[in-house]
Amino acid sequence: MKEKHANKPIDPRELRDALGQFATGVTVITCFDQHGKPVGMTASSFNSLSLEPALVLWSIGKGSSNFEAFNSCSHFNIHILKHDQGDLAYQFASKDGDRFADVKLAQGDQNAPAMEDCLVRFECSLNANHDGGDHRLLIGKVEKLQHNDGEALAFYRSKFAGLLA
Ligand SMILES: Cc1cc2nc3c(=O)[nH]c(=O)nc-3n(C[C@H](O)[C@H](O)[C@H](O)COP(=O)(O)O)c2cc1C
Repeated sequence: MKEKHANKPIDPRELRDALGQFATGVTVITCFDQHGKPVGMTASSFNSLSLEPALVLWSIGKGSSNFEAFNSCSHFNIHILKHDQGDLAYQFASKDGDRFADVKLAQGDQNAPAMEDCLVRFECSLNANHDGGDHRLLIGKVEKLQHNDGEALAFYRSKFAGLLA
């Protein structure tokens, strides 16, 4: 085990690689911006927080082009991706093109863009928004959830992989 000296600042690249050893699922998180335009991004920082009340969390980088939208929204939807949605994860992480191209959204009044095709959809209201260094931590209260059967997409060491449900 290679040890690090506690009084030395942690190298961000090394930290990133170390965090990459932690396998996660992959989500696409959406909201409406101040003008009502759908915005969305791929996020693997999603996690559970509390069962009663039903709370979940994720964090958004302050440098994100969607930062203002998510930092000031009242609702967001978190979509856990299926094993075969790696391309969609890249689409929602890309700086180029329309992230919502060919994405089927639920019709009717929605608090945030609701993608039909996903493993689980958590429809959340904003519960709390905390500072977290170069990110902000957003805590959502789960107002509604919908799930389908299937396998989840996983992210490990910067690569996608399918997981058995
Ligand atoms: C698998 C994966 C997970 C990601 N997780 C996060 C995340 O949790 N939070 C975040 O702010 N950005 C995350 N990103 C980066 C964003 O999806 C996006 O690429 C980045 O913010 C740049 O685009 P933007 O400026 O339009 O947001 C992730 C990207 C990938 C591919």
